[in-house]
Amino acid sequence: MSTGLGELVDQKSALETVKEKEAALLFQTYERFPVLFERGEGVYLYDAEGKRYLDFLSGIGVNALGYSHPAIVKTIVEQSAKLIHISNLFYHRYQAELAEALTRISGLDRVFFCNSGTEAWEGALKLARAYARHKSPEAKKPKSKLLVMENSFHGRTYGSLSTTGQKKYRAPYAPLLPGVTFVKFNNVADLRKKFNANVCAIGLETVQGEGGIQPVSQEFLQTARELASANDALLILDEIQCGLGRTGKYYAYQHFGVRPDVVTTAKPLAAGIPLGAILATNEVAAAFHPGMHGTTFGGGPLACAVANTFLSELTRPGMLEHVQQTGAYFVERLGELKAKHKVIKDVRGLGLMVAAELKSVDVAKATVKEMLERGFIINRTHDKVLRFLPPLVIESEHVDALVQALGEVLKSSKAAKGKQK
Ligand SMILES: Cc1ncc(COP(=O)(O)O)c(C=O)c1O
Repeated sequence: MSTGLGELVDQKSALETVKEKEAALLFQTYERFPVLFERGEGVYLYDAEGKRYLDFLSGIGVNALGYSHPAIVKTIVEQSAKLIHISNLFYHRYQAELAEALTRISGLDRVFFCNSGTEAWEGALKLARAYARHKSPEAKKPKSKLLVMENSFHGRTYGSLSTTGQKKYRAPYAPLLPGVTFVKFNNVADLRKKFNANVCAIGLETVQGEGGIQPVSQEFLQTARELASANDALLILDEIQCGLGRTGKYYAYQHFGVRPDVVTTAKPLAAGIPLGAILATNEVAAAFHPGMHGTTFGGGPLACAVANTFLSELTRPGMLEHVQQTGAYFVERLGELKAKHKVIKDVRGLGLMVAAELKSVDVAKATVKEMLERGFIINRTHDKVLRFLPPLVIESEHVDALVQALGEVLKSSKAAKGKQK
């Protein structure tokens, strides 16, 4: 958007003013990049100075349809004028419709709606313990052990934190939830060793996201399924980041031909309006009786109406194929960069959940910063991993632009030339 000089000066100071106020007023939990975003359109974001950014992060996997998508905007405008919130004491039109769509694409039977990823995972853990009691009502000590993964991430509330396999997140908040054991991700022997009759659930991300884009192996997932099934324990998959089309299937477990008992889903579900869900089989969902679990906001009419629109877009013919093809093209182009730049250690991805692992933390940090300066939004996770979670609607020309800029940045990066750590 073009602006006069006077306005530009004002806009520059807008960022400074906001920064100062936030520094004084907010909990200092985030290290933000110095950009003040004002609007988005398609796969682009615009800052207060009118500078355009190509978005390869989509609000950490939320804005799957990009920005200002006409169908999403229309639903928000129309529904917000009718009914935003009603509480779960009453019916509205959209939860059942959304549950129908989610059960259809996931292959599970029932849905509980909540507000976020961590709330979905938290609920799934409660469901696992409740199911163990439900199956053995007479038992003095029903199964209670939760087997979860090293290197995982499930969120910031206590249950999620307690099952997140990265010490840096857990350490400040001990003591945590008891009965949690960590298994080495994709290590079948470790899984077998730690599994016993007291395990009520095995929980994992089908593709570890914060952990650096690491897909589960077929053998590991299958073994988890078999152990759980043979012992009346649950297989719970966290698809908060990798679900809903991100990997080129509706849910990432559909790459592996394994049916979980419980799935958690969130991020892009309502296209930026907070909404999460627990999906489960009929048998497992039966462990929650009225009053055992609930939420004020979860599954409100606005969020669910928007999610219905999102799912109609996601289930359009050709959408998943587009994600698969664009994702494969992206990985191929990053592979070309890897051949030219020694600092790239590995390139991996499933659909549009893609990573370029570097050999150096410094280079990774500098790269994200320099890419931002050039108008490309990417992210760094697990210290050295460049993570790409673009809107699912990006095209190969956007991939080309990103790869071109990344190549230039890696070539020119002082850190890349010298001090590799
Ligand atoms: C795999 C996974 N699980 C859970 C969460 C937590 O979701 P939320 O931030 O919506 O609570 C995240 C967030 O990044 C995630 O990637």
